[in-house]
Amino acid sequence: MPNLLSMNGLSNEQIMHLLKRAAQFEHGEQASLEGAVVNLFFEPSTRTKMSFEMAEQRLGLSVLPFETAFSSILKGETLYDTVKTMEAIGVKAVIIRHEEEEYYQQLEGCKVAIINGGDGSGQHPTQSLLDIYTIHQEFGRIEGLHVTIVGDIAHSRVAKSNAAALEQLGANVSFVCPAEWSGDYETTDELDSLLGETDVVMMLRVQHERHAVSALFSKERYHKEFGLTEARERKMKKSAIIMHPAPINRGVEIADSLVECERSRIFKQMANGVFVRMAVLEYAMKGRD
Ligand code: NCD
Repeated sequence: MPNLLSMNGLSNEQIMHLLKRAAQFEHGEQASLEGAVVNLFFEPSTRTKMSFEMAEQRLGLSVLPFETAFSSILKGETLYDTVKTMEAIGVKAVIIRHEEEEYYQQLEGCKVAIINGGDGSGQHPTQSLLDIYTIHQEFGRIEGLHVTIVGDIAHSRVAKSNAAALEQLGANVSFVCPAEWSGDYETTDELDSLLGETDVVMMLRVQHERHAVSALFSKERYHKEFGLTEARERKMKKSAIIMHPAPINRGVEIADSLVECERSRIFKQMANGVFVRMAVLEYAMKGRD
């Protein structure tokens, strides 16, 4: 069975299968998997780690605790040897978040199932799947929707995973950011002109920890130029929704008052993350001995 390392390479059928399975879990279906899993998080995480743990527990898996700060990583052990150790003691799947882009290249040959919980500025496939699930739940389709992704495009693994997958599923994706954060994407800095025709406004956190130079913008200036302000929210289509993977900087990428407004699906995204991760764990673990 496949690892889940990136959205690139997942077919539309595979994505739709995972979404369908997540919906079944959301509607109360139960499944039980056997074995132990470990969440190896080398970068901070609240949502991804906790919702993986919730998903693992709901599937009846045993979750072995791992804390980077108390592990042999501090004695210089490599990621490869850490993962091989998990494999040797009988762990069936590892969920890894790491600051190095494509860290998983060095894990070739490992037999344990590997699920990517975020690799630097690379990919974050389970976030993308839960975002797509949330959009599909709202509109009943992805094809033909206009999704506008706003913020630190170049450094955001959420933007990259979503851009490819949403386009593959037939959405029309626009990117809004300061020119310095365009990366390989064709972007604009004109958020206002897109709002009236956008179905999904997806805001991103500014990835300060991945910037070589600090603070291009003050918080106030960023909010004014690229943030979702109350005035901008009023320009959105009646049916349009607001998304953000969180953590949120309230008052920077989004006005405090909009975080829990009627259009916001931010906490719904988090709830959906558990069902999507149950589907992903099942997909990656079933069939492995
Ligand atoms: C994102 C991440 O870690 O990439 N958070 C998450 O997993 N929900 C977004 C971010 O940190 O900005």
